[in-house]
Amino acid sequence: MKTRITELFGVQHPIMQGGMHFVGLAELASAVSNAGGIGTLTALTQPTPSDLAREIARCREMTDKPFAVNLTFLPARTPPDYPGYIRAILDGGVRIVETAGNNPQKWLPMLHEAGVKVIHKCTSVRHALKAQEIGCDAVSVDGFECGGHPGEDDVPNFILLPRAADELQIPFLASGGMADARSLVAALALGADGINMGTRFLATVEAPVHANVKQAILDASELDTRLVMRPLRNTERVLRNAGVDRLLEKERQLGSQITFEDIVSEVGGVYPKVMRSGEMDAGAWSCGMVAGLIRDIPSVQDLISLIVEDAHTLIRGRLAGLV
Ligand SMILES: Cc1cc2nc3c(=O)[nH]c(=O)nc-3n(C[C@H](O)[C@H](O)[C@H](O)COP(=O)(O)O)c2cc1C
Repeated sequence: MKTRITELFGVQHPIMQGGMHFVGLAELASAVSNAGGIGTLTALTQPTPSDLAREIARCREMTDKPFAVNLTFLPARTPPDYPGYIRAILDGGVRIVETAGNNPQKWLPMLHEAGVKVIHKCTSVRHALKAQEIGCDAVSVDGFECGGHPGEDDVPNFILLPRAADELQIPFLASGGMADARSLVAALALGADGINMGTRFLATVEAPVHANVKQAILDASELDTRLVMRPLRNTERVLRNAGVDRLLEKERQLGSQITFEDIVSEVGGVYPKVMRSGEMDAGAWSCGMVAGLIRDIPSVQDLISLIVEDAHTLIRGRLAGLV
């Protein structure tokens, strides 16, 4: 399957694994890239730029295919050493960067001069257009159903993707709620050039997380995610658990008076507890509604091969048969 995304990034399949905190390590990123997709390391999971440099080197030992590094720009009291992380990316010879959160404009000249292609993840048509205007090479358009930060507009992908297709000139990936061949074919029909997946890749053999996390996704239905931090305008879609219920209760009680300090025990330092130790009630961790479609823990190779093969069958069989 050839799309503007496979051409732009020089990969076999138009399937990307989005950056995931404490999940986007070399094991998963290299598995996705080896299977012909775009695997992604998550920069800020590494405590320092030198740790990121080591992780990039480790990933390179595990694959000779292109892989990406995610740089997330979120509000922080002490901003991470972004110039240091970017230096590690450039020195490591990485050719694809996924940016997310705030506008990446400041960093684009450095990245582009080094020949890096930038795909910015955004949650609205206006942000996608801004990314195009400032010179991003592609965007991932993240609908309301996505795991992680869906923004504040609450527009699901059946509306958001065709809206993006109508306005954008640069290639784009459909992100949020993507799980299988049906998702890929639908995304292509809606005008996207491929798909970006988070939650689905979390429930794979190679995802380097505790077995409890994978089991929690298998056990979850599409009704089991919650939106947290809405009052702080930093909305995150997470899997419901005891920590999330505590957090939502605080949000109800404190209303618009709530501050980040009030909820720090349910949102700060949660990822290592969940992803490494399997403490499933530790607090809020991102998970998409697509959990309701996930019923197995395949290898990344099997997952991607099946998506691509079934997509061909779906297009040539069911869809061709309808016209
Ligand atoms: C556990 C988890 C952690 C995530 N961490 C990040 C992150 O650090 N930075 C980022 O840009 N996106 C992050 N995301 C969002 C994903 O990259 C992707 O955009 C999203 O999962 C797509 O929606 P889906 O889960 O429905 O596939 C995370 C998602 C999950 C499930």
